[in-house]
Amino acid sequence: MSELVIENSAISSQSSAIEATYTTLLNQIKAITAGEPDLIANMANISAVLFNNMPQINWAGFYLHKENQLVLGPFQGQVACIRIPLGKGVCGTAALTNEVQRIDDVHAFEGHIACDAASNSEIVLPVQRNGMVIAVLDIDSPIFSRFSEHDQQFLEQVITILESTLAA
Ligand code: SME
Repeated sequence: MSELVIENSAISSQSSAIEATYTTLLNQIKAITAGEPDLIANMANISAVLFNNMPQINWAGFYLHKENQLVLGPFQGQVACIRIPLGKGVCGTAALTNEVQRIDDVHAFEGHIACDAASNSEIVLPVQRNGMVIAVLDIDSPIFSRFSEHDQQFLEQVITILESTLAA
């Protein structure tokens, strides 16, 4: 029983540390994008903040929606596939459905595009302008089930900040 209490308190202090980190990162992202309407510049800085501060990830970046495909945008990590047809892979699925894809095991996702063999889990979030998907944010991890509901909520807030920099 006492072990359980200790364990729970360790989990709770770990969650508050993660919470504090996410609050700091959101403030940092707000500060570096404030008053800057250039999408590419903001994507470049956001991918740098995420890649350098989220533990256990091996790629963080954006794909831009151009005609019926996604084209590689600003990112941090290993070189990646340049073009992804809409509806293909995790990124193309997020862009086509306009829904977040949080994948615990990418090898079990039909059509997953393996840019880096080290990746085992992935989260992809659509970026919208006037209701249209203009890009996706993609983050990969070598750890299975790396991305929690809490990570998703944090990243959704990152997307909201990015979208707020875009002129209507
Ligand atoms: N795995 C992605 C492709 C992009 S890379 O991970 C950077 C996908 O299945 O869409």
